[in-house]
Amino acid sequence: MTSVALTIDRIRTGTAAGSTCTPDLARQPWDAMLGYGPGASMGDVLPTGSPRQGGLPEQYRLASTDELHDRIRAAKATLGDRVVVLGHFYQRDEVVQHADFVGDSFQLANAAQTVPDAEAIVFCGVHFMAETADILAKPGQRVILPNLAAGCSMADMADLDSVEQCWAELEQLYGTEPDADGRVPVIPVTYMNSSAALKGFCGEHGGIVCTSSNAETVLEWAFERGQRVLFFPDQHLGRNTAKRMGVPTSRMPLWNPRKPLGGNDAGALLDARVLLWHGFCSVHKRFTVGQIEQARAEHPGVRVIVHPECPEAVVDAADEAGSTDHIRKAVAAATEPTTFAIGTEINMVNRLAAEFPQHTIFCLDPVICPCSTMYRIHPGYLAWVLEALVRGETLNRITVADDVAANARVALERMLAAKPRG
Ligand code: 13P
Ligand code: SF4
Repeated sequence: MTSVALTIDRIRTGTAAGSTCTPDLARQPWDAMLGYGPGASMGDVLPTGSPRQGGLPEQYRLASTDELHDRIRAAKATLGDRVVVLGHFYQRDEVVQHADFVGDSFQLANAAQTVPDAEAIVFCGVHFMAETADILAKPGQRVILPNLAAGCSMADMADLDSVEQCWAELEQLYGTEPDADGRVPVIPVTYMNSSAALKGFCGEHGGIVCTSSNAETVLEWAFERGQRVLFFPDQHLGRNTAKRMGVPTSRMPLWNPRKPLGGNDAGALLDARVLLWHGFCSVHKRFTVGQIEQARAEHPGVRVIVHPECPEAVVDAADEAGSTDHIRKAVAAATEPTTFAIGTEINMVNRLAAEFPQHTIFCLDPVICPCSTMYRIHPGYLAWVLEALVRGETLNRITVADDVAANARVALERMLAAKPRG
């Protein structure tokens, strides 16, 4: 089994050529993107004059990996409790080793709230996670994203204008009056992987945010209050979760924002229980039923666990589906040596393999496919922002405008109250 470091090294040196999902990964992250790149989920609230990702200073580009690690450790030691570093499960090992908390997006949103005394939260995840931390942070706390081009392509698949247009069409069709049980026609639910503006939209329209770990609890919350749910941006998480709760897929039309009525006829929308936005994760949509069949043929008894961002057929063919934290707990709880085929991001899978050597753990997708935007956070960027903090400078601060943050906080607090199952 390859280690995370070896995998990353193969990507960086180009020796994984042909077996990575995008050749961009072979380039150094500082060459990949200037300005807000894919995943610039704050585009619609970006204040004029906000920082855009420029080139990384040469001293960080030229430094050896060992030197960067030493500099990160030294800066963290100097800053002490004034700084907290958060790392998502998908983050590369070279960065995760410096994190004070590692977790899924729900846990990291909570972790950001448990450090009220830290002046700076350095978020080694992606843009929407840093925005969320800023919304939940105490006044005066600064949230830093080491590379501003670390976005999420799924988050960019729903923007405020398109969602507002959709909402106007739905109001026209359904009206705004509650039914006899007091349930409004539609409740908007946004996946955490979305811009602050969309979280604000949900807060303002009686809706809520979910993560992959509490999506079921959140949908229950929404169905208590609404006749239907408008779920964005990830169609797969919406479909897989609602299906598990007993909603037939025939009552989950897909909403294509480029077509009138989302490409549906009024009858289908009137019958709908969940309207699914046409979004997806480019990493998770790569998993296929064929990969699962191959894993079962080559490893009799294999346990297949996939993330609910995978397509419906893949989730159906797997033994179980769950958030990154669910996957981690399932592996950690296995008492007998087990073979696991995992359908999620490669850094996390390889880290599990290294951490639980008693099990055989591999990624269902034989092609190396990290979350290429999260991958843009390299130790060079982490050293750069931490050393700036030591000098009293704040680089790459992520701020959400107050009016957007106020509504988004409402939807996020509802989310935090909706605890994941078991
Ligand atoms: P989690 O909610 O499991 O952390 O997943 C976040 C994510 O971006 C998955 O692609
Ligand atoms: Fe976005 Fe997919 Fe990366 Fe998750 S894995 S942050 S959904 S691009």
